[in-house]
Amino acid sequence: MLMRTIAFLTQKGGSGKTTLAASLAVAAAQTGERVIALDLDPQASLVRWGKRRAAAKARYTIMVEPLERDRLSRLRAILDGLAGAGFTLAIFDTAGADGPAVRLITEAADLCLLPARPTIMDVEATAATFRAVFLAKRKAAFVLNQCPPTYHSSRAGDAAKGLTALGVLAEPMLSARMDYQDAIAAGLGVTEYAGSGRAAQETKALWSWARAQFADGKGERAADHRSSRQAAA
Ligand SMILES: Nc1ncnc2c1ncn2[C@@H]1O[C@H](COP(=O)(O)OP(=O)(O)OP(=O)(O)O)[C@@H](O)[C@H]1O
Ligand SMILES: [Mg+2]
Repeated sequence: MLMRTIAFLTQKGGSGKTTLAASLAVAAAQTGERVIALDLDPQASLVRWGKRRAAAKARYTIMVEPLERDRLSRLRAILDGLAGAGFTLAIFDTAGADGPAVRLITEAADLCLLPARPTIMDVEATAATFRAVFLAKRKAAFVLNQCPPTYHSSRAGDAAKGLTALGVLAEPMLSARMDYQDAIAAGLGVTEYAGSGRAAQETKALWSWARAQFADGKGERAADHRSSRQAAA
């Protein structure tokens, strides 16, 4: 069985890697994926979310495991083992700082998602991560997160322009909503916590977008996106 991998990366802390990894994992499980979430951050926020989830007896099963640095040299074998065990989607949550661990994950991931808040500092810091992913020839996309929830925010629009110029921007942009925080606290994804809310709609749409990237084929990389974008310009 083919297992896809999505990695949440960016050296900028607090942009939403863990929050989005958790809610995307749940949204994927709700569409029938067998999901494992691997936490590379020694802070272990995602692992603790998984424990709350188990205690809350959440309906959709998501395996959440820490992945220590010293095991990363065997990453390929670990992923093969997970695919053999029947998982169809692995989601990596990484620590903020860039480094050798992140490089190994980047090389293994089918899709790298780079969350960024719509601020100049986040966009600049995320650009550095994008370059690293781009050099590793992975398919990569920015996710604008924690955007002001007002419709057509010009602040988010300006950040979107900057990111679109750099490469790919995932759809949709995600807004700042308490549901994201409350869901994490409850050991749930937003689509479980407030299934009919805006945060849930955005997260479902993000999962649909991510899935469509896989359907595009593994051979298509960020570089191809860029050259076609540039050719079209
Ligand atoms: N869309 C959102 N709406 C509201 N709050 C959010 C949203 N996304 C993230 N947050 C909040 O922002 C803070 C940072 O999010 P999170 O911990 O997921 O970021 P991170 O990138 O994993 O950070 P770190 O680099 O420290 O691991 C948290 O308090 C989280 O609840
Ligand atoms: Mg985190």
